Amino acid sequence: MFARIAKRYDLLNHLLSGNVDKRWRRIVAQRVREKLSSSSSQILDVACGTGDLSLTLFENTGARVVGTDFCRPMLKIAAGKTSDRIPLIEGDALDLPFRDSAFEVVTIAFGLRNLASVEGGLAELRRVLKPGGWVAVLEFSRPANAMIRPLFGLYFTRVLPLMGGLVSGSRMAYSYLPASVQKFPDQEQLSLLMQRAGFEQVQFENLTGGIAALHMGKRPE
Ligand SMILES: C[S@@+](CC[C@H](N)C(=O)[O-])C[C@H]1O[C@@H](n2cnc3c(N)ncnc32)[C@H](O)[C@@H]1O
Repeated sequence: MFARIAKRYDLLNHLLSGNVDKRWRRIVAQRVREKLSSSSSQILDVACGTGDLSLTLFENTGARVVGTDFCRPMLKIAAGKTSDRIPLIEGDALDLPFRDSAFEVVTIAFGLRNLASVEGGLAELRRVLKPGGWVAVLEFSRPANAMIRPLFGLYFTRVLPLMGGLVSGSRMAYSYLPASVQKFPDQEQLSLLMQRAGFEQVQFENLTGGIAALHMGKRPE
């Protein structure tokens, strides 16, 4: 599915979100920067796709960034944008090709929802984090405002699949998006799953009224 939409993925992200996705990624980079102990730190961006978050992290934190994804066509587009500044490694988020405790920060944006097991994904993110390191999960979530929720629901389930289908040529991919978000844990549930996966100081920040949320958690020392 991601291979089919790779070429139009960035365009659609910016179009369908009115460029708000760029602001969300910048917020992730700001929060990550606050957690980094030195500029020689390494960040792993899991399910990096076309590399937008990897690049934003690279440009805004000064740290070394590695991107990984299992979809080669997405990685090819990422490689065109990052031009050797960011190593890109093909790999499955449920079986990451990295040693234990390798990274100071691990990020995953709009990726966790797509994994066959959210719990398995969280366990793997924790495994590659150094003790004391932080994970940042950016995902669609549940709008907090009861007035906004139905309006956003209408846009997300009706307008977005139509526009996404027309521009990408894959109506299925853009119908899958709202369906997968509906099944994904909301802010509180995801916090609980992260705690159960062994993260501490788990906190979340609603973005654009909870349309998306950034969850952060620390691997205990
Ligand atoms: C919605 S895109 C997000 C891409 C990017 N992080 C962003 O913010 O735009 C989801 C990405 O997750 C990747 N993905 C899904 N399941 C995966 C898995 N098991 N292992 C690695 N990557 C996976 C897809 O290939 C796709 O590039």
